[in-house]
Amino acid sequence: MLGKGDKMRLIITDDFQEMSLRAARIVAGQVELKPDSNLGLPTGSTPLGLYDYLIKFHKEENLSFAKTSSFNLDEYYGLGQNHPKSFYQFMKENFFQEVDLPQENINFLQGRAEDVEKECYRFENKIASSGGIDLMILGIGRNGHIGFNEPGEELKSHTHLADLAPETIKANQKFFDSEEEVPRQALTMGMGTILKSRQILLMASGKSKSWAVKELMKKRVTTEFPASFLRVHPRVILLIDQEAADRI
Ligand code: GLP
Repeated sequence: MLGKGDKMRLIITDDFQEMSLRAARIVAGQVELKPDSNLGLPTGSTPLGLYDYLIKFHKEENLSFAKTSSFNLDEYYGLGQNHPKSFYQFMKENFFQEVDLPQENINFLQGRAEDVEKECYRFENKIASSGGIDLMILGIGRNGHIGFNEPGEELKSHTHLADLAPETIKANQKFFDSEEEVPRQALTMGMGTILKSRQILLMASGKSKSWAVKELMKKRVTTEFPASFLRVHPRVILLIDQEAADRI
């Protein structure tokens, strides 16, 4: 589908379900080939079907995460792990509590860390000392953000505290009772942290992502569209559904 020499592999599926199933097969294959894989995991609506399929594979086909480790991409600043809207709770409810991933293998940024810089450093170091991320699964913001690396004049390479863009606050309101409740800052892996992963699987579903997908197809790298940095990575799979592919 893509031009010669382009490293990004594009898979277009009929719908969200098929995208989720294909993603789950890729993740399951990774875990079967390397049971002690380090997985980079996202939150949001996009990976929900993927998590459902992985739970199904675990319960019905004995897919085991017993030796696997996870590193979540980001966490809202100021929210503790027990906060109902924290990304940790999201992961617990939608994935962790349904599979055999050991608690001690779950790595998360602490949204209420007293020393944010130290916390980012701890997380970054933990990824490195664990051998790096084998498979990083990503969603994409409507504005092209990855994790909470928002468009702007510059991007940060390492894990850091980030300000959410106004459109991200609006988009993430769906998980809160009101827009005011959405935290304005988050701890997030940096673009460099993400790009160090051995393999990246980016998922996008629905019409609201079609502009971002179109931008991602452009052969250029710019901080004004953070996802464009994925173009420099040698092993990226772009797994999107028909609606997200609408404008390409
Ligand atoms: C959030 C997350 C991203 C996610 C994106 C898209 O703000 N920080 O990791 O990929 O927005 O979310 P959704 O899948 O709900 O569209």
